Amino acid sequence: MEREKFGSRLGFILISAGCAIGLGNVYRFPIITGAYGGAAFVLVYIAFLILLGLPVMTVELTVGRASQRSIATSFDVLEKKGQKWHFMKYLGIAGNYLLMMFYTCISSWMIIYFVKYLSGSILEYHGSEELGGVFVDMISNTGLLTAATFAVILICFAICALGLQNGVEKITKVMMALLLFLMIGLAVYSCTLPNAAEGLKFYLIPSFEKMKESGIWTVISAAMGQSFFTLSIGMGSIAIFGSYIGRERRLLGEAATIVSLDTFIAIMSGIIIFPACFTYNGGQTADAGSVGASFLFTTLSSIFNAMPGGRIIGSLFFLFMIFAAFSTVIAVFENIMSFWLELTKLKRRTIALINIALMLVLSLPAVFSLSIWENVTVFGYGFLDLEDKLVSNLILPVGSLFYVLFCTRRYGWGWDSFLAEANTGEQGPKFPKWIRPYMTYVLPLIIIVVLLISVIPLFV
Ligand code: ALA
Repeated sequence: MEREKFGSRLGFILISAGCAIGLGNVYRFPIITGAYGGAAFVLVYIAFLILLGLPVMTVELTVGRASQRSIATSFDVLEKKGQKWHFMKYLGIAGNYLLMMFYTCISSWMIIYFVKYLSGSILEYHGSEELGGVFVDMISNTGLLTAATFAVILICFAICALGLQNGVEKITKVMMALLLFLMIGLAVYSCTLPNAAEGLKFYLIPSFEKMKESGIWTVISAAMGQSFFTLSIGMGSIAIFGSYIGRERRLLGEAATIVSLDTFIAIMSGIIIFPACFTYNGGQTADAGSVGASFLFTTLSSIFNAMPGGRIIGSLFFLFMIFAAFSTVIAVFENIMSFWLELTKLKRRTIALINIALMLVLSLPAVFSLSIWENVTVFGYGFLDLEDKLVSNLILPVGSLFYVLFCTRRYGWGWDSFLAEANTGEQGPKFPKWIRPYMTYVLPLIIIVVLLISVIPLFV
């Protein structure tokens, strides 16, 4: 069967960026930035994006384009006879499913809050305490949360069932355009708030004091973890989009565009949030001890409820969150669809139906872990947290390490093959040859350090 391709380069860039741009940018990034020292954290984070995110993203796109396959079969195609790299497929497949098992649940919170703001029903609650109660009521309402999570799964798989160009590309393009439009509107509005200057100062002028307070290693580890999560690298969800493009352009430039768009959205989300915190919340952002859901649904909601026009701003903000979340869910579902297309002879629509049923069941542990399975834990974590930790702290770094080793070692695909494919094309910067020692020795070492830092605390 002829492999589908993107209709345009814009489609490729927006969908890959849409895969990267998600709750990690508009939700996790401003929260951890607030907690770990504002601009000083942003600097460390950007350093990791350049040192780690950009090369790994290029490697993934290259493996995807060279093999013309998803992670389910890309290593089978590229490895030499007798090699075992294709075992990576199990990690990749598990990673994509695990991410969606909790991500669809969190995405559903955005829909519920969007409706709460649109209808105005949330406006009668004030202050973090009352709004904390509203949030707990929502997550412990098993029926509501199950229905909303199912809606996310149904809508996003239905879009994938329409096909790569007719469904995924068409809809994601519109959604990303709306996301950018909403984001710029909200950011401009935030900058006109009375204490906007203070908020922006906190966000954009580094304070290394606050960073020291949190502990340098904690901050570094948060920045590294965030750079993997925000780019969705290490489990083939970016590689798949490399397999849908032609060979007109070199891949370093394409990866740089995706990373830049992702970073732009993350930075702009902070520009929306921090002026509001400094105008309506006495400069309180999130503290290091409470980096979690509470910030968005209690602190930020209490800010919306205190500001004039809060109903409209709140609705638009959660709509913005929905677009960000859905762009990731659709992209990862497309990757899941491609596993099945490559491993079976089934048609797109049948695969979508099977996966709707599968995801409905697989999403339940995360949904239930907030209510009826609240006391069920594995290694001390509820299911939602466990799935998040397994993906963010384990699968993404391990997967990235294998991708890098595969592309730099002679017992893998090898540096020469990698470089030739990455640099095939007429336009865009070349992946430099001189960077080979960094890619071969230093980058794997950095990833191993990330892994140790992020895995040890899971069990200790
Ligand atoms: N990269 C996705 C996000 O940032 C997972 O939400």
